[in-house]
Amino acid sequence: MAMSLRQRLARAYFNAVYNPLYDASTARLARYRETQARLAERLAAGPGQRVLCAGLGTGNELVQLRAREPSLRIAGIDLSRAALARARDKSSANASTTSLALMDVQSLGFRDSSFERVLCYHVLDFVEEPSRTLGELLRVLAPGGRFVISFPSGSEDAGFGAGLLSHGFIAPGQSLRVRLSRLARTMLAGCIYLPLTLRRRPIAYSAEDVISQLGSLGAVETAVETDGIYRDHIASGIRERKGGTSGAA
Ligand SMILES: C[S@@+](CC[C@H](N)C(=O)[O-])C[C@H]1O[C@@H](n2cnc3c(N)ncnc32)[C@H](O)[C@@H]1O
Repeated sequence: MAMSLRQRLARAYFNAVYNPLYDASTARLARYRETQARLAERLAAGPGQRVLCAGLGTGNELVQLRAREPSLRIAGIDLSRAALARARDKSSANASTTSLALMDVQSLGFRDSSFERVLCYHVLDFVEEPSRTLGELLRVLAPGGRFVISFPSGSEDAGFGAGLLSHGFIAPGQSLRVRLSRLARTMLAGCIYLPLTLRRRPIAYSAEDVISQLGSLGAVETAVETDGIYRDHIASGIRERKGGTSGAA
């Protein structure tokens, strides 16, 4: 799939700014960590299962998933080399069961039904073709497999900065040094998101859109909840088995 100029610019930004600063800022926020833990819980990956982390960024989701279930076989893909380098460092102790690749989530180089679990968190906001991406994510998920995918809701602009700041400021019972350090990280996180306000706005989905789009791709038992950090929709569900039965693998 040929990359547009817009996508090249986005990749340059992710390589040069976003991913190098991510672990020192956004990833240190308690709310981010809580969300990562919730994603792993919703994915409910069992022993030895094959998991795709699509757009895994600097690899925090790898760490969270392995903390819950160490025996997973995880494939992580991202469009940013800077992200993959950091994710690789975090998975060095599990190199034999982790494979990381530079890949576009809109055109996945995996066979149909390759994974029992698919996680794609805060990535649809950045792709040019979200419908195509969803098709790819469901294609590589095995029937009966579980997915967790977040969708832009359009409320990130209004709530995100305020949410981050209030979270950074409110730290009752903590020393001034800790509060200042949290504030600095919060401001840094805010700054790295600023260039994103210049991009074309991603498609905004309602919870009903999410359920209907996923349903048209063979998803069942889809539940939608609100993301505590970006205020996006987090959808979790199962890819229908042949014959219309569900039941997670
Ligand atoms: C907000 S970060 C989320 C990272 C990770 N999921 C997390 O929660 O920490 C978005 C990631 O999506 C990646 N990304 C953006 N467009 C992509 C694409 N078309 N294919 C693969 N990865 C992409 C970026 O490089 C970035 O690492």
